[in-house]
Amino acid sequence: METVTRAEALRARIAAWRRAGARIGFVPTMGNLHAGHYSLIAIARARAERVVASVFVNPTQFGPREDFASYPRTLAEDQAGLAASGCDLLFAPEVEEMYPFGTSGGVRVEVPGLGDVLDGAARPGHFAGVATVVTKLLNLVQPELAVFGQKDYQQLLVIRRLVADLRLPVEIVGAPTVREANGLAMSSRNQYLSAEERERAGVIHRTLRAMREAVLAGRTVDTVEQEAMRALAAAGLVPDYAVVRRAADLTAPDPGVRTGLIALIAARLGRARLIDNLLIDDADQ
Ligand code: PAF
Repeated sequence: METVTRAEALRARIAAWRRAGARIGFVPTMGNLHAGHYSLIAIARARAERVVASVFVNPTQFGPREDFASYPRTLAEDQAGLAASGCDLLFAPEVEEMYPFGTSGGVRVEVPGLGDVLDGAARPGHFAGVATVVTKLLNLVQPELAVFGQKDYQQLLVIRRLVADLRLPVEIVGAPTVREANGLAMSSRNQYLSAEERERAGVIHRTLRAMREAVLAGRTVDTVEQEAMRALAAAGLVPDYAVVRRAADLTAPDPGVRTGLIALIAARLGRARLIDNLLIDDADQ
C-alpha cells in the first residue's frame, strides 16, 4: 500500500485505476484506527476494486477548547493496519494541502438545520468543519462509494444531505457500529478512558437499549428521555443529551409515533465525550 501526501499524486494514482475500469471505494478517517475503521475498509473492499483511505486530523471540526492538539496521531500503526486490511492507497495530507487558503479564510460548506442540532448545538462549527473537509476529500478522490460509520449518525445524515444538495455523484454507505464486549461503541476517544471508565461506559449502550424498549412499550418520549438522563448520571456520566428523534432528520417525533425513530446519547466520562445511538425499529443492533 502506498501513502501519498499531495493532491496531485492522489489524483494521478486514482486516474490510472479509473482508466483501467476500476470502481473506487473511499474511507475517510482521522486516523488512530481500530476495528470499527477496519470494518469500513472491509465494506469498501467488498464493493469496489480499489480502496482509498485518508488519515487527516481535520482542525476545522474541533472547537477552541477541544482535543485537536492531543488527538491521537498514530500514522505508522495506521499504515500497517490499512495495508493488512486490503487498502490500496492512503492519502495523509498536511493541513496546508487541504486548506491552501488557511483554516479560517477558505470556502466553508454548511448544512443548516441538520448541522445545528444535538452535537451541532453542543459543538458549534463542528459540522461545518466536517462538511467542508468531506466535500474537499470527495472532490479529490471522486469515489463511486464512500463508507461512514453509523456510530456518528448525525455526521452520516449531514454527509448524505451535502451529497444530495451538491449533487455529488457518490453513494454514501452507512456501516454498522462495532462494539466492545460491554456494548461500548468503538471510538478513538475511548483511549482517553481508564480501564474502570471503559467498563462503566457500557451504560451508554444499555441505556439506548432501555430507551428503545420503553418507546416500543408505549412510554412517552419525555419520560424515556428523562429516565435515560437519570441512568447516565447515576453511573457517574455527565450527559449532554439523551433523546428520541426521527431517524430521517433528527426532528422531534409526533406524539404516539413509534416507527422511524432513533435514540441518541452524548455524555462525558472523564476526559472523553462519547456518542452513540440505536435505531428503534432495528432489533438486530
Ligand atoms: O468521522 C471522522 O473520522 C471524521 O469526522 C471525518 C468524516 C473523517 C471527517 O474529518
